[in-house]
Amino acid sequence: MSNETLANLLHEDRSFPPDPAFTAQANGTAALYAAADADYEGFWADQARTYVTWSKPFTQVLDWSNAPFAKWFADGELNAAYNCVDRHVEAGRGDKVALHWIGEPGDTRDVTYADLHREVQLAANALTDLGLGKGDTVAIYLPMIPEAVVAMLACARIGVPHSVVFGGFSAEALNTRIADAQAKVVITADGGWRRGTPSALKPAVDAALDHADTSVQKVLVVRRTGQDVAWNDARDVWWHDAMAAASPTHVAQGMEAEHPLFILYTSGTTGKPKGIFHTTGGYLTQAAYTNAVVHDVHPDRDVYWCTADIGWVTGHSYIVYGPLALGATQVLYEGTPDTPHQGRFWEIVQQNKVTILYTAPTAIRTFMKWGSDIPAKFDLSSIRVLGSVGEPINPEAWMWYRDVIGGGSAPIVDTWWQTETGGIMISPLPGVTSLKPGSAQRPIPGIGAEVVDDMGDPVPNGHGGYLVLTKPWPAMLRGLWGDPARYVETYWSRWPQYYFAGDGAKKDDEGNIWLLGRVDDVMNVSGHRLSTTEIESALVSHPKVAESAVVGANDEMTGQAVVAFVILRAGASHADDDNTGIVEELRNHVAKEIGPIAKPKRILIVPELPKTRSGKIMRRLLRDVAEGRQVGDATTLADTSVMDLIKTGLSSGSDD
Ligand code: PRX
Repeated sequence: MSNETLANLLHEDRSFPPDPAFTAQANGTAALYAAADADYEGFWADQARTYVTWSKPFTQVLDWSNAPFAKWFADGELNAAYNCVDRHVEAGRGDKVALHWIGEPGDTRDVTYADLHREVQLAANALTDLGLGKGDTVAIYLPMIPEAVVAMLACARIGVPHSVVFGGFSAEALNTRIADAQAKVVITADGGWRRGTPSALKPAVDAALDHADTSVQKVLVVRRTGQDVAWNDARDVWWHDAMAAASPTHVAQGMEAEHPLFILYTSGTTGKPKGIFHTTGGYLTQAAYTNAVVHDVHPDRDVYWCTADIGWVTGHSYIVYGPLALGATQVLYEGTPDTPHQGRFWEIVQQNKVTILYTAPTAIRTFMKWGSDIPAKFDLSSIRVLGSVGEPINPEAWMWYRDVIGGGSAPIVDTWWQTETGGIMISPLPGVTSLKPGSAQRPIPGIGAEVVDDMGDPVPNGHGGYLVLTKPWPAMLRGLWGDPARYVETYWSRWPQYYFAGDGAKKDDEGNIWLLGRVDDVMNVSGHRLSTTEIESALVSHPKVAESAVVGANDEMTGQAVVAFVILRAGASHADDDNTGIVEELRNHVAKEIGPIAKPKRILIVPELPKTRSGKIMRRLLRDVAEGRQVGDATTLADTSVMDLIKTGLSSGSDD
């Protein structure tokens, strides 16, 4: 479906104005929009002074002279870990709980700001003892345990950018990311708990490092599950041993505002993941400011819970840097929503009196499917704000979320942003905005966004086009690690004056922005970003595969689902007539190359792929097939009989 057609289908009359009682206590105000419009740089300087403590105050705000390479607050200095930990302890709030950690098997641990302070200092010294210093990088491959937060903050404290790799990625994916960032140390665990069983992590690290030229010198291993691990005495060090040997005090030094804070790999339109890198001052400012005004976090009374994994940007900005900079109390949960039962999330909300919940539409749709009677068994009355992130939220899921989880009254913030943007960009402000189910609505104060046509001209209300960001923003990526040219080419070449987000969008009659999904070869499966090309490369790396084409097909539960069309090599044996054996083999191969999240939902073995005369695969036609539609206009195909061949061969596909 084209964006235009989809846009025409969207029509939403419901509107939920803010409750005056909420408005009276909200951090966000209508005045913020006016202030940002009146003086853009002054507005951001105010936020940077309000939310961040600077060891050396800045005098410059934005330097855009070398566009699109931005500098924010460039002559200022700060330490991100000091901002997230020490200053709260210094202000007498050391006994406040920073993390109510909940392990999947039911073990729990409350970590106060004083605890964090102690552990981050030890870890900073332990990392320094391993020889790490400015100029080095560290890869973190950990489950959702307090040590993950401590490890990230310890890196930040000593000025060593971390590259967190999601624990669900395979050894191969980990290896690519370690090599690209030239990580000197990997911080991992023996394993983590997932769906009731310990799942191993260290073997993947061992496999990833099994290369003669690996940059990694030391591996720090947290003991989480107690499972047996292979040990390399020359390289592996237990986290608890390193912590026990480290000196307890570490004085945080100020870093330049533009010092790199982290690298985070994300899928782009080519096979090679992009190392998005963020710097310290502008990023921390926007993470804290948005967590305050969008989620409405009040550190003195809220219990906030963001259900993302720290392996994604949402975990970076809205578990680690934003909430901790604000000094908030939050829940950190290791496991999955259905272990040991489908009410686990609601039990956690009830037990911890969670007031703000931030999760993804795919989770909300799953909870809907499981049934409203499950959350109904728990007391969710503490909830006062709900957030959504990662993909468009359909109005039905929005209404369910508000009614069933939010007691019919909690405002929902549908937050649009990306790994690249570092922080929330488009979202309603609770207490200010009248909410429209399904729309992310307006750029927040201090952010410029537009929907433009092919020429780069803003579209009128009621029309669709491409989402662009019109002004540099503090948390913007500063580039792609080691590849400045690709940064310019990917984001700033289509219309040089605008940042091209890669998303289609529509403006409704009131100018609200509706996100319509990616317009490039990036898929969004359960809110996870996957590249069609990356999965195609994984498939063709299998000896039996000659060629493949991957599309994202609409899927009721996961937003999109990976569907792969594969041509087998001549003579590739597959004993079974219906291909189930080979299909399973290929699905597992993709899981091994990238990770289980990239496993195609369906693989269709086909004799040909539809190509134009210039050899380009026509994914549009494949999407028609994958979504079970009448195949669209195929006249530009080099061989128009190909689609018939594919359709007749489809009985050989697997579906599970
Ligand atoms: O397509 C948009 C979608 O997720 C993409 C960014 O993915 P990632 O970098 O992994 O970051 C996800 C978490 C911030 C975007 O290009 N996306 C994210 N939030 C929304 C969204 N689509 C619609 N509505 C949203 N609220």
